[in-house]
Amino acid sequence: MAAATRLISRLTLVTGGGSGIGRAVCQRLASEGASVVVADISEESANETLGSLQSNLRGQVHTAAVVDVSSKESIKKLVTSVQTRYFQPPSVCVNAAGITQDDFLLNMEEEQFDKVIQINLKGSFLITQAVAQALVACGAPKGSIITVGSIVGKVGNIGQANYAASKAGVEGLTRTAAKELSRFGIRCNCVLPGFITTPMTDKVPEKVISKIESLVPLGRMGEPAEVADVCAFLASDDSQYITGASIEVTGKTGGISEAQTCLNTDGKQQRVQTQQTPERRGVSGLGEE
Ligand SMILES: NC(=O)c1ccc[n+]([C@@H]2O[C@H](COP(=O)([O-])OP(=O)(O)OC[C@H]3O[C@@H](n4cnc5c(N)ncnc54)[C@H](O)[C@@H]3O)[C@@H](O)[C@H]2O)c1
Repeated sequence: MAAATRLISRLTLVTGGGSGIGRAVCQRLASEGASVVVADISEESANETLGSLQSNLRGQVHTAAVVDVSSKESIKKLVTSVQTRYFQPPSVCVNAAGITQDDFLLNMEEEQFDKVIQINLKGSFLITQAVAQALVACGAPKGSIITVGSIVGKVGNIGQANYAASKAGVEGLTRTAAKELSRFGIRCNCVLPGFITTPMTDKVPEKVISKIESLVPLGRMGEPAEVADVCAFLASDDSQYITGASIEVTGKTGGISEAQTCLNTDGKQQRVQTQQTPERRGVSGLGEE
């Protein structure tokens, strides 16, 4: 583990900071000395995270802010208010806001597809663009933009055509942003979690979780803090020669594709309408009563 103070005097912005992985990232960045802007569509959740942040290191001032990452207007307001308050743009930005709206490809509504793309992919683009524009405009010497993708973007997952497309998209976005922004000292990287214990996944039934865990070589689901560890590394100068990269944080699972976990928007399991082998049904929990 690197020095605990490697982010002192860094201003950081974390979207989706009100819950799960985003909250763990806020806590980890604060514990390393950064000032953190906790941005979320839920004001209450953002404030809850704010209340949990360590603030005893030099110059730390944290704030909570409401943002809808799918709205350019909302992001503009956020970046302006950050610059007004801190007299600088954030030099570290973590795109962790994200949603799922699962359904089988044969049934998926256009709205379900659009909504997930708008928040997960377009939201990451808008935030990355706004933060990069602000950094370039003020001549900042360096920046690090980290986007939380997913292993599902690489391997696909039953019931997640929209989500997998959005997460594959953020990798392409990040690799391109890395090429365009490196001349401004701005690095862009992705973190690809596997199956992590957060509110996004905690409604999966216990017996399905056990099956998933048995498929992960490290034998368990990941913790948000373990994703945050990698984000902190990518935020810091310890990763100064890394850009355009995607780092998997999966316990070496072959991906959730091996442990299908189709959730609908309420986090409830859906029945599989297609034929499956008993093994597949047993592994996924899909189709179980
Ligand atoms: N949990 C997992 O297993 C897992 C695996 C791979 C990738 N991810 C990704 O990690 C990120 C965080 O997921 P999580 O599991 O912590 O989920 P979560 O539901 O706990 O947190 C997501 C946060 O994003 C916020 N949010 C949603 N829409 C928003 C919007 N339009 N604008 C701003 N904020 C918004 C929510 O309010 C919430 O606080 C997501 O991008 C997710 O796709 C999660």
